[in-house]
Amino acid sequence: MMNYARITQVAHYAPEQIVTNNDLAKIMDTSDEWISSRTGIKQRHLSRTELTSDLATKVAEQLLEKAQLSADQLDFIIVATITPDSMMPSTAARVQANIGATKAFAFDLTAACSGFIFALSTGEKFISSGRYQRGLVIGSETLSKVVDWSDRATSVLFGDGAGGVLLEAAEKQHFWAESQFTDGLRGQSLTCGGLGLSSPFSEKQVDDRYLKMEGRAIFDFAIRDVAQSIKNTIEESPFSVEELDYLLLHQANIRILDKMAKKLGVSREKLPANMMEYGNTSAASIPILLSECVQQDLIKLNGDQTILLSGFGGGLTWGTLIVTI
Ligand code: ACO
Repeated sequence: MMNYARITQVAHYAPEQIVTNNDLAKIMDTSDEWISSRTGIKQRHLSRTELTSDLATKVAEQLLEKAQLSADQLDFIIVATITPDSMMPSTAARVQANIGATKAFAFDLTAACSGFIFALSTGEKFISSGRYQRGLVIGSETLSKVVDWSDRATSVLFGDGAGGVLLEAAEKQHFWAESQFTDGLRGQSLTCGGLGLSSPFSEKQVDDRYLKMEGRAIFDFAIRDVAQSIKNTIEESPFSVEELDYLLLHQANIRILDKMAKKLGVSREKLPANMMEYGNTSAASIPILLSECVQQDLIKLNGDQTILLSGFGGGLTWGTLIVTI
């Protein structure tokens, strides 16, 4: 007998504090006009005191509540993040402790803005192996910790937040196609050192704590490589682009979505956007968008719709999944 996985619940959470473009213009040489015309972003949520694991825990609690499950019914928890509270314990282990998911194994997965896609694909494999029944896949970030607030070219782009899904065993197929890529040779165009680890024997001091980006290179990567891989994944799937109800793409920049819609030959309405409210939340952006689409009744979680999810970013990494939801 085949085993299948299905997304059965979605949830998201963002810190209460909202910082608008006009707020940023008070502390750096920028403007609402510059930011919104180039990126679509109008505001972002920033965490004052909440950790990445706190945001992820809020999402996990909502998922359990919506599904009417107790935490000990979970087999695994995967948190995709590039801003873990610590390397050890993992953010996922902290979530596991916070919600009391005593039977779940938990680990973080690091693939930047593709993190949620890679994690969802991983969770789907766990369930389709037949070994596990149920798990949480969460993307959670506090990028405000790793953004260089003295660099206007990057700091205006990012925000904090978390989103996630409950994955459960199902009788029918729901995951139809996937592709995942990494090009480490181009990795230097988007970097973030985090811990900035360096050997005590090394003369070289590592100074890459903050996020750095070659904006143009990343823009080109998104509209060339990622658009082509999305096309290929649709071709390999049983669906035509017209049969996809929505394409939920990583929320980096509204101009990337505009170009992507043209390249894929779909109407712009099929590509929902919420970077206006959140900025780029890296691994959290796709699950936050998915959860908002369900909240707005665009996506109904009734098994009748087919959507494409696609993430792209640091690594470089990119990945696409086509799922019935
Ligand atoms: N406010 C005002 N002026 C600014 C700001 C700002 N916040 N940031 C940069 N500028 C200035 C620059 O200094 C530069 O001035 P100069 O011409 O006098 O030197 C000018 O604006 C143009 O700067 P560019 O970096 O060339 O601006 P560009 O038009 O390329 O837009 C942007 C930058 C929006 C980042 C664009 O490259 C882009 O959309 N890239 C896509 C990458 C992306 O969205 N990445 C997100 C993270 S990666 C991911 O998630 C996949």
